[in-house]
Amino acid sequence: MTSPVNVTVTGAAGQIGYALLFRIASGQMLGTDTPVRLRLLEIPQGVKAAEGTAMELDDCAFPLLAGIDIFDDPTAAFEGTNVALLVGARPRGPGMERGDLLEANGGIFKPQGQAINAGAADDVRVLVVGNPANTNALIAASNAPDVPKDRFTAMTRLDHNRALTQVAKRAGVPVSEVRKVTIWGNHSATQYPDIFHADVAGTPGAQLAQDREWLEGTFIPTVAKRGAAIIDARGASSAASAANAAIDHVRDWVLGTPEGDWTSAGVVSDGSYGVPTGLISSFPVVSRGGSWEIVQGLELSDFSRGRVDASVAELQEERQAVEELGLV
Ligand code: NAD
Ligand code: LMR
Repeated sequence: MTSPVNVTVTGAAGQIGYALLFRIASGQMLGTDTPVRLRLLEIPQGVKAAEGTAMELDDCAFPLLAGIDIFDDPTAAFEGTNVALLVGARPRGPGMERGDLLEANGGIFKPQGQAINAGAADDVRVLVVGNPANTNALIAASNAPDVPKDRFTAMTRLDHNRALTQVAKRAGVPVSEVRKVTIWGNHSATQYPDIFHADVAGTPGAQLAQDREWLEGTFIPTVAKRGAAIIDARGASSAASAANAAIDHVRDWVLGTPEGDWTSAGVVSDGSYGVPTGLISSFPVVSRGGSWEIVQGLELSDFSRGRVDASVAELQEERQAVEELGLV
């Protein structure tokens, strides 16, 4: 058996943390041959609840769980970490503007980026889940100058999974038969779920997309506004599905994406598809040899181009806002 992988989870006492930690410890994220050592980061008020979760993890007697440490200091929490899941973030409160949220989260993701830079393992891989995920990832990456930028990613896998199910339901096929769906842009209501290159049980996604009323009136808004619909229905934001998506993202990143398919992730742009270099934007991606690669050569119609550009414009505005706050 290999030596344990250090996995740091921030916001460990939150609802996503509770849905995530047991799956990591049972081997669902890194594989059933890989032991893990959990490093949980919370704010001081969250430490007691994190200790309770650690007691429950112990009580599961997971054979792969090599240890659990709990911290309220980011520098200590990211020491030696190989996989960092940045879940803890300040949610938007009443009367808060986008700029206030970006500023509040800058207070979280700037020091966390610095701590990753200072002490994480050379192979560190970072997934930002806490919202606004793309721009929080940009803040963390900008404050970790010694870590390659492509090690910082933002989660759009939940949007991707949501899109797969909506397409499968529409076509009346199992979700496993839907491939090559893409989420472009920001993890926000401006995101563009794209089925034009999809394969739906052998039928081109473009054929489904011919029903413009369904595409523009049902499919795209259902996927893009699903987060708000869950909050409305549950009275709390998505947690188990978000944790599931985080597991999917890291598993595919480390172990590789299946042949003949791709997935979606917020990765640093190299200028592909006209997305400004350096933005963390969602693209169609495959993982080979432990690195994400942006799928190249897809043709975008004027309709798709307009949707991608609108979401990327929002990312540029967010980047400008955090530049003005001195966070990147
Ligand atoms: P939650 O409020 O239940 O838990 C958040 C936890 O983070 C709390 O325990 C809090 O104490 C902790 N925390 C706050 N600041 C911290 C810091 N500086 N360091 C460490 N821990 C800190 O929230 P949740 O439901 O678990 O959601 C967490 C985040 O994930 C939110 O920002 C939410 O909007 C986001 N989210 C993203 C996606 C996505 O698809 N990208 C999906 C669902 C939720
Ligand atoms: C989600 O997509 O479920 C989360 O990002 C929650 C939200 O605020 O939309």
